[in-house]
Amino acid sequence: MTIPAGDQLQEQAKTATFVWQMSELGDPYAKLLLRQVNPYRFCEQARELGPIHRSKVGPWVTADHALSLGILRDRRFGVRRADGTRDLAQFTSMDDSFLKLDPPDHTRLRRMVTPFFGARRFNGQRKRIEQLCHGLLDAVDTTKPFDLMDELVRPLMNTLVRDLFQVPEDVAERFDRNCTTTGRVFEGFASPEQYEELEAAVADLRAVLGELVELRMEQPGDDVVSELLTAYREGGVTMDEVIGVLGLLSIAGTESTSHLMGNGVLALLEHPDQWELLKADPELATKVVDETLRYDPPNQLISRVAHVDVELAGARIEAGDSVVILTGGANRDPKAYPDPNRFDLTREGGPESLTFSTGIHFCLGAALARTAAEICFRVLVDRVPTLHQAGPVRRRMASSIRGLHRFPVSA
Ligand code: HEM
Repeated sequence: MTIPAGDQLQEQAKTATFVWQMSELGDPYAKLLLRQVNPYRFCEQARELGPIHRSKVGPWVTADHALSLGILRDRRFGVRRADGTRDLAQFTSMDDSFLKLDPPDHTRLRRMVTPFFGARRFNGQRKRIEQLCHGLLDAVDTTKPFDLMDELVRPLMNTLVRDLFQVPEDVAERFDRNCTTTGRVFEGFASPEQYEELEAAVADLRAVLGELVELRMEQPGDDVVSELLTAYREGGVTMDEVIGVLGLLSIAGTESTSHLMGNGVLALLEHPDQWELLKADPELATKVVDETLRYDPPNQLISRVAHVDVELAGARIEAGDSVVILTGGANRDPKAYPDPNRFDLTREGGPESLTFSTGIHFCLGAALARTAAEICFRVLVDRVPTLHQAGPVRRRMASSIRGLHRFPVSA
């Protein structure tokens, strides 16, 4: 059951007031939740309070890399409470997928789509991704200011997500629109109308996915819908679950990967020496991906709930307590990465960033996101070597997602 729009807004307003009050008392996590332009200084303040501390807002908070890694791999923590109830209010009827399930249901559903998401599949699509990037850049006059998000990265990711499903051309625009609106859930709502618009998009996305399922029942193909329908026919998954998994895959990748690309290009343009390095050696595009994932990740928070009482770094976390991992903070933990606030393509060693999570919920789309972003950086530096920022960026106002709405650039 979802929460009615009015109650949702009231809840949101109460929470916002409380968070603001706690930020006034100096709580770093509360300050971070206020959607700050620079979350990293609050991550540092959080780290100064110890490897893990209890925020005045409620959850335990950590920006310690080793500790975060341990929590994400520790089966004493889950994404729901031990009794299976949710820790947080359900935002929309789509917000119910294996991302938010613990084993055994998580394992059963994830297993059905895992084979589809191997690195080999996306490596085989490199030519297609390259052609898409070139096609999008062919359509803009790069000598005049253009919006990198609208003209390149979002349409690229919309197409790649549609490819996973083999969405027919005649519903492509409707599919993209619904995915974009649904992805806005992370920003909260300014009015009941906005909330209702979101629920309408969720309902329509479900309808499109339903139509797609019917089509693939008749004409199976090499796509993730057909893969899930095989599992459905074998009785391993219900139709509601099929739609839930497809819903998750529709919205999980587009925004996050677009922001990886946007944040990466912004970091490169803000560090012209690094742009020059990439220009001289486009093979460094894979390093741009790694370093952006570490330095300015598109997702900033991962939550877990303790299933049993746990002692961690001297803190006693009780069953049912929430723990928030500040991904962006853990990725800048000086114990894990020397000189962590420097964007450096020549960085060697260090652990993998926590941006794709780790453990059983490790991002299923990581190979797709990596391949798409690497090719996008490579094509961009090749096609527009004199790329520069052509106006102020507009940021997305969400504390969990870090990315750009507007990013004007030109050659
Ligand atoms: C840069 C881009 C991306 C980032 C930063 C990202 C990040 C994440 C993170 C942090 C999680 C795990 C959350 C947790 O541990 O609770 C996750 C899970 C997931 N991601 Fe991604 N993701 C990205 C791209 C994608 C793409 C392109 C897809 C697919 C189209 C995708 C599909 C998924 C799915 C299905 C899960 C659920 C995995 C599970 O719960 O077992 N992601 N992602």
